[in-house]
Amino acid sequence: MSEQPPVDPRLLGRGCYRGHPAYEGTFWSNPMLGLKALWRLIPHMTWQTIHWYRAAKPVGVSRHKLPSGTQSAVLLRDLQRKGFAVARMPPAIKQAVRDVIQQGKGSVLDGLPGDHTGRHFRGRLRDPELNRTLDRLVFEACLQTGVLDAAQAYFGRCYRSVRSDYQFDADGPIKREIFEDAALPDPQTVYMHLDTSWGVANLIIYLSDVELPDGPFRYIPGSHGWSWSSFDLIIRKAMHRSKLQKTDPENRRLFAHLPRFLQRKAEFGNDIQNGNPVSQLLLDAERVFVSADGDMVLSDNVTGVHRGILLRPGHRREALTIGFVE
Ligand SMILES: [Fe+2]
Repeated sequence: MSEQPPVDPRLLGRGCYRGHPAYEGTFWSNPMLGLKALWRLIPHMTWQTIHWYRAAKPVGVSRHKLPSGTQSAVLLRDLQRKGFAVARMPPAIKQAVRDVIQQGKGSVLDGLPGDHTGRHFRGRLRDPELNRTLDRLVFEACLQTGVLDAAQAYFGRCYRSVRSDYQFDADGPIKREIFEDAALPDPQTVYMHLDTSWGVANLIIYLSDVELPDGPFRYIPGSHGWSWSSFDLIIRKAMHRSKLQKTDPENRRLFAHLPRFLQRKAEFGNDIQNGNPVSQLLLDAERVFVSADGDMVLSDNVTGVHRGILLRPGHRREALTIGFVE
């Protein structure tokens, strides 16, 4: 694991935009644009504040307590220290999951474009019965491996089921075209982000063998513990929900005219230019999760920096992304 020092979250905000060629203008250069952006942002700030308040109150489970010596306690310790924990799915359950996916994936993949434009799908299978079976199998795997107990204890929530989305990605990364109009190359930190969720664990289960070219999940160990303030997180998540963080010309123009102290995004990696010292810090600290290390990766994506699906052409990845349901 990397021994990089913590990154100050303030470096992942307004400092990225001063002099950035894709973000020109300030609030005082066109206050009407700034007010228009604020008009879109403020309702989302209100909602995110409510979500933050609700997530801060644990329900039903005593946070951070598990019997020592158990597998779940080991996973919880990793989650607390590093922001992630890795487990291996029981082989019999994994085979049963693969059988279910084999039955149901044809109907959801048939409509995807061909090899040249990339094939990406994330969602439920079409058959409700297959989905129910899938969710039951995954929940059982979470119980047996201790993943469920660790997730519950870490977030202080009580999860009674899971929702499993099938994810298929092949033939190149999802096309992002971040600053295509400005003729700028994608930065090396592209797609590094926090999720917009609050108080929920994130679990990815690899169904195929995943090595570096296959778009593995990536996470910066310890980033869940950086000095994110509640205000900072609320703004970042609200910015995402308001869609002001999108990198098309119109949204960039609005974003650039926001007051400087609000210029921060959940998906900040797109805006860190190569050569910015923080870029190298993030890249050096990033850990890549290949399936040889484990096929269940539980992580705190609420405040932990992560990304994925950086596939190389000719490669593919099959996975389940799991949401825990209270
Ligand atoms: Fe994410």
